[in-house]
Amino acid sequence: MISCPAVEKRVIRNHYNVSTVFYRLLWGHHIHHGLWQTDESPQVAARQLTEQVAAEVGIRRGDRVIDIGCGMGGSSIHLAKHLNCQVTGITLSPFQQRWATLSSFLQGTSGSTTFLCGDAETAAFPVDSFDVAWSLECTEHLFDKPAFFQRLATWIRPGGRVGICAWLAGHEPLNDVGRQQVFDVCEGFFCPSLGTMADYEQWLTAPGFRVTKTLDWTDRVSRTWAICRDRVNRFGIRSVAKLIDRGQLIFLDRFQTILDAYETRAMRYGCFIAEKVT
Ligand SMILES: C[S@@+](CC[C@H](N)C(=O)[O-])C[C@H]1O[C@@H](n2cnc3c(N)ncnc32)[C@H](O)[C@@H]1O
Repeated sequence: MISCPAVEKRVIRNHYNVSTVFYRLLWGHHIHHGLWQTDESPQVAARQLTEQVAAEVGIRRGDRVIDIGCGMGGSSIHLAKHLNCQVTGITLSPFQQRWATLSSFLQGTSGSTTFLCGDAETAAFPVDSFDVAWSLECTEHLFDKPAFFQRLATWIRPGGRVGICAWLAGHEPLNDVGRQQVFDVCEGFFCPSLGTMADYEQWLTAPGFRVTKTLDWTDRVSRTWAICRDRVNRFGIRSVAKLIDRGQLIFLDRFQTILDAYETRAMRYGCFIAEKVT
């Protein structure tokens, strides 16, 4: 695991309060990578990632799902609409919570979704209250990842499943250049740490999940950042950020770093599928 101790939770919350509108304008309903098979549009690729995780988890109609770090509600609404799931989404950002609630209403799924503003590291849910834990690109932002997985295990019923996508530090040992690249990504994208694939497998296994699949999707997702970099340049987003909140500039300036880190394998992108052992 590579850590960046300077990251603060209030900065993560502020990032999503400020930048959600821009994510929506530049990328769509989902704040996660696209998953490419060939040369699909970014919007299709982003939807494909959600659909692929749902297929890997084996989501069943009517599953009770907790969507940790639900963003604008993209996954929650998809699962409610297409798979009849009952979804509880939680986000650190009050702006996103309101956005997701409104979006779900407008898409006719408000009866099957609930969006909470809260911290997944301190939130409490009743024991065994969900069939599925779903989290796309949120655990990067958590400060005590092993403790989070311990809490998560209590919320999922025996036999329940987990689907997690996460930005990862590359396999150990990393050289100094690689470690610096991962640190720069943590700093620029407000992640207190990035775990390796082996870390995630261990964090899931310790509280009683059995990891059934670990998928390395690095090569299928990495073009996300070339597209984002080009769009930010084309639409002059840096100038807008300077006016709105200069604290977001570091984020915009690190898109090339993440591309380089994927290229050198200092970073990887993983999908973890697990089952709670009964
Ligand atoms: C990269 S976005 C992913 C959003 C969504 N999963 C998606 O795929 O569209 C990260 C999300 O994690 C949330 N997040 C970060 N730290 C969190 C925490 N401690 N508790 C709950 N949500 C958190 C942010 O508010 C944001 O919604």
